[in-house]
Amino acid sequence: MAAEFFDTAEIALNDGDQCWGNLGLWREGDSYSGACHRLALELGDTAGLDNSSQVLDVGFGCGDQLLLWLEHFGVASLQGVNLSASQTARAIARLRQRGHGQHCRHLKQADVSEENRWPAPEAAVPNRILCLDSAYHFRARQHFFAHAATTLSQGGKLCLSDFVLAPTYRRGVREPALRAMLQASRIPRHNLLSLENYAAQLDSAGFTRIETRDLSREVMLGFAGWWSQYQQQAGPLPVRSRLKYAVTARFLHWAYRHELLRYLMISAEPGA
Ligand SMILES: C[S@@+](CC[C@H](N)C(=O)[O-])C[C@H]1O[C@@H](n2cnc3c(N)ncnc32)[C@H](O)[C@@H]1O
Repeated sequence: MAAEFFDTAEIALNDGDQCWGNLGLWREGDSYSGACHRLALELGDTAGLDNSSQVLDVGFGCGDQLLLWLEHFGVASLQGVNLSASQTARAIARLRQRGHGQHCRHLKQADVSEENRWPAPEAAVPNRILCLDSAYHFRARQHFFAHAATTLSQGGKLCLSDFVLAPTYRRGVREPALRAMLQASRIPRHNLLSLENYAAQLDSAGFTRIETRDLSREVMLGFAGWWSQYQQQAGPLPVRSRLKYAVTARFLHWAYRHELLRYLMISAEPGA
């Protein structure tokens, strides 16, 4: 099988059998798994997950967040779409191992940008659509928003953690470097919008009550600070992984310091 960009390499950074792969919401002294878990909790709380939640998770990684939705928030039903084949296989295996095999039927390896990859007609109509640190990668995020708005049931909610351009960002000398970094990170340049334009995309997709919370410092500087400590004590990480995390850490630090990007928790509800 051809190597995937999104794979299970993050196992090396995690504690126990966890395999989180997000940027984390960092507090002093956190392990990588701890910070990733906190970002997921923040998303689950923002979405108000509980035992009435019918969740559709897009970009569910290796399934750690699916276990959180099921075991911490006690959600009623679960379905998911994830581009990565290796991660999807691992997520399914872990859910089965933990006795949640009944939910695996609706976990699919697919690109959410493809029209026919959305929930099967026999699956529950979702009232929560979640994207944990994944939407900025989608090839057609705007199309995803439109589909999410029509898929959600009445009173539903889309919740995602995502990047926007900082309010002070102006195209200029840093644009070529930004483009190069984004390309290396598989982030389409057209996904980086000002908050105003991001909200306008959600609005034209049919969402209202758009709320955002800025987590930039704890996410972007948090990851960069953690890596600068961790790399000194890291065991033998494969060169490719070491390079990937080093580039990510530098990128986040640079983008924060020069006020290029902001990392937000976002929620929106489909209009009547
Ligand atoms: C940065 S990782 C985050 C993984 C996971 N949410 C976590 O917090 O550990 C991005 C995730 O988005 C998924 N992804 C990226 N593009 C996608 C697409 N077009 N359709 C579905 N999933 C996608 C990847 O497979 C990967 O699992």
